[in-house]
Amino acid sequence: VDVHISLDGAGDRTDRIYRQLQDAILDGRLRPGERLPPTRELAQRLAVSRNTVAAAYDRLTGEGFLVGRVGAGTFVGAAIERPSRPRSAPAGTSVQPRAIWASVVPFTAPPTAGARYDFRVGVPDVSLFPLDSWRRRLAHAASRASLGRGEYAGPGGDPTLTRAIARHIGVSRSVRASGSDVLVTHGAQQALDLIGRVLVEPGMTVATEEPGYPPARQLFRTHGAHVAAVPVDREGLVVGALPETARLIYTTPSHQFPLGMSMSLARRSALLDWADRNGAVIIEDDYDTEFRFGHRPLEPLQSLDRSGRVIYVGTFAKTMFPGVRLGFLVAPESLRTALRRAKQLTDWYGDPFAQQALAGFIDDGDLSRHLRRANRVYAARHEQVIASLEQEAADLLEVVPSAAGLHVCARLREPRRVDVARAIAAASPHGVRVIQLADYCSRPPDRDGLVIGYGMITVDRIHAGLLELVGALRHAG
Ligand SMILES: Cc1ncc(COP(=O)(O)O)c(C=O)c1O
Repeated sequence: VDVHISLDGAGDRTDRIYRQLQDAILDGRLRPGERLPPTRELAQRLAVSRNTVAAAYDRLTGEGFLVGRVGAGTFVGAAIERPSRPRSAPAGTSVQPRAIWASVVPFTAPPTAGARYDFRVGVPDVSLFPLDSWRRRLAHAASRASLGRGEYAGPGGDPTLTRAIARHIGVSRSVRASGSDVLVTHGAQQALDLIGRVLVEPGMTVATEEPGYPPARQLFRTHGAHVAAVPVDREGLVVGALPETARLIYTTPSHQFPLGMSMSLARRSALLDWADRNGAVIIEDDYDTEFRFGHRPLEPLQSLDRSGRVIYVGTFAKTMFPGVRLGFLVAPESLRTALRRAKQLTDWYGDPFAQQALAGFIDDGDLSRHLRRANRVYAARHEQVIASLEQEAADLLEVVPSAAGLHVCARLREPRRVDVARAIAAASPHGVRVIQLADYCSRPPDRDGLVIGYGMITVDRIHAGLLELVGALRHAG
């Protein structure tokens, strides 16, 4: 390996080479079995005599840090007792981030170890995903031919992909868009970030749903927004409760996150009217409704919008898998140039290989086939969660009606009768992993509950898992 050694300054050179190599071995930068440069080569590089380097190597060899193999070279010894001495950056307290970052909390998922009944939210079942097809497409995309001349690309995303996405969301969600309207992003989260960069002025009011999606809320705060939590009822976001000052509204109308209801048509019209009257922009986050169980969902806000106020955001994190980090937005014409420039300033244009692979995956029908198959699986799980809750906990929990997505929300029938956090903690040793509704609230909710994901649990385990959970809830009552 090409190890970095500095001989600037004074002191015995052999000693300094010795110490720097020893340091690198102890903190793990040089790993057991790695080959060191020959003494002649290192001596040349450091502009010292070969003996200076050889003496350092000899000392390290004598102490067991290095081993010489005749004819092969010098290697880091295999059996070195390594004190745990991770190399970390200097602590330093004189430089600090902006104050806002002290209040940004990471959203931690429940531990996966020992999860027998995994009801985590927002994660699809990766075992359903056609990985062979995806792998072939990625390998093909990473060929010399697709590399072209290796130049930087434009910020909008691979044109074959933007056309494929436009067709796909046109058919499956009746979003009105052509390829040039689509901007490919690193997941929905980057789409929200770009929108924040382009629209949020410091101090501007951004309305988000309560309960709602914490990463969106926190993101807009870091852009300097004042984030207002607006309640939702059974028809979705309560338009009458929007603060007059809101100029950006983040909403999940097709499958409210995390409660799960769909925004009624009357509410959709009222929201569009409100935005029009108040000069606000609406972000429609349609994160998981390609999984739906029942009749066709209502038209998205984007296709009902007549005055160019809606930005539609989508993701492949659920329809494929979260690690793919591919999402997109469709914005009104008036915002398009700025959003593309923001994308370019942020990361130029994302991963061209994954984008090409996805274009073929959509165009050849693999995505639709996968969605049809996965839909049947999730429909059965969705039905089982509801049936089990109704059978075992109808007196305790009210299931929020929903017909899409990868989770169901169940709220306590009586406010504060049960300590939900205690019940979740009690169910955890039995292998139950689930998230509390309060975790998605910016203030304690009147009626707490559970958000029950079924992406990670097979249908045959759902009833037993919910039995454990309901038992723990009754105990915590
Ligand atoms: C409301 C909501 N929006 C968006 C996403 C997906 O974001 P991303 O594409 O950044 O993974 C999620 C994932 O859990 C979500 O719950």
